Amino acid sequence: MSDLDSIVSSAQAAFAAASTPADLENAKALFLGKAGQLTELMKGMAALSNDEKKTRGAAINVTKQAVEAALTARRQALADAELEKQLKAEALDVSLPGRQRGQGGLHPIALAWERVEAIFNSMGFDVADGPEIENDWFNFTSLNNPPNHPARSMQDTFYVDMNDEQGLPYCLRTHTSPMQTRYAVAHAKKHAAAAANGTMPEIRVIAPGRTYRVDSDATHSPMFHQFEGLWIGENVNFKDLKVTFLNFCKAFFETDDLTLRFRPSYFPFTEPSAEIDIAFSSGPLAGRWLEVAGSGQVHPSVVRNMGLDPEKYIGFAFGSGIDRLAMLRYGVNDLRLFFENDVRFLSQFQ
Ligand code: DAH
Repeated sequence: MSDLDSIVSSAQAAFAAASTPADLENAKALFLGKAGQLTELMKGMAALSNDEKKTRGAAINVTKQAVEAALTARRQALADAELEKQLKAEALDVSLPGRQRGQGGLHPIALAWERVEAIFNSMGFDVADGPEIENDWFNFTSLNNPPNHPARSMQDTFYVDMNDEQGLPYCLRTHTSPMQTRYAVAHAKKHAAAAANGTMPEIRVIAPGRTYRVDSDATHSPMFHQFEGLWIGENVNFKDLKVTFLNFCKAFFETDDLTLRFRPSYFPFTEPSAEIDIAFSSGPLAGRWLEVAGSGQVHPSVVRNMGLDPEKYIGFAFGSGIDRLAMLRYGVNDLRLFFENDVRFLSQFQ
């Protein structure tokens, strides 16, 4: 190999070994720089004759072009590699799911609550809201459940360290029934003049809300939801209660495939009193009687506490658990699931 050919091959090797643009520039200097091998060869031509200069000069030029071509090719290769690296680093995986804001939804209890309101609204019932911290009169005594009455023990609850005007402690309401007297008193006052001449409009209301008791297991939670129903007029009877509640259940569960029965029971605020059971004739719960509400004809003492004459006004009331209805509607067997707030559970109801 001539000295020129070996310069070309050692330049190619040096350029190939350069792994960065800076290394490549250093390698270039070895051949084409001021003190580079080719530059030295050119300088050496000064001692040659004119003829020799021609041939030698042409040969060196060919060599120089070959070295420059190798340099350009390597530069390009390094630039390509750099670009490739950058593209890889900045690559977008278009198959990844986008970052989105999760979509919220209503809690299953809230969904059931809204259903209850919508259905009773469609049957002409008003919707009322009342306090969760209740005084003794509305929670117990006005409902014919005086202090020391044994029926109070059915509803053990939480008391607040504060007394009402009667010197009795406030409590977290144990049921939505206090809304019966609260709403009826307001209604009777509002329509007092009409009541006096016998034209008071009927009371037809439901009152949904939170309630509290000292209870905790798979089907009881210390905080739970009820809705109270009240229909008082001059001629409202058990038949109206049955039709109203049956129609409600059919609408709530979206089926005509159910029957309803009254089971005699006891509540201080109603006489007679009945538990309401329903049974589906098909589906996973078919054939089982399921207790869905307490109910009865409003006790004359309670009617009096509403500010109304029990000789004239009569009607029914019921109290039902929203959580219980939601469990039946959605096939949930543990009440606690509703309150653990695991999004995987809750999102199933959207
Ligand atoms: N308040 C009762 C309870 O929580 C349920 C109830 C029963 C409400 C009969 C009523 C009723 O209005 O008439 O257990």
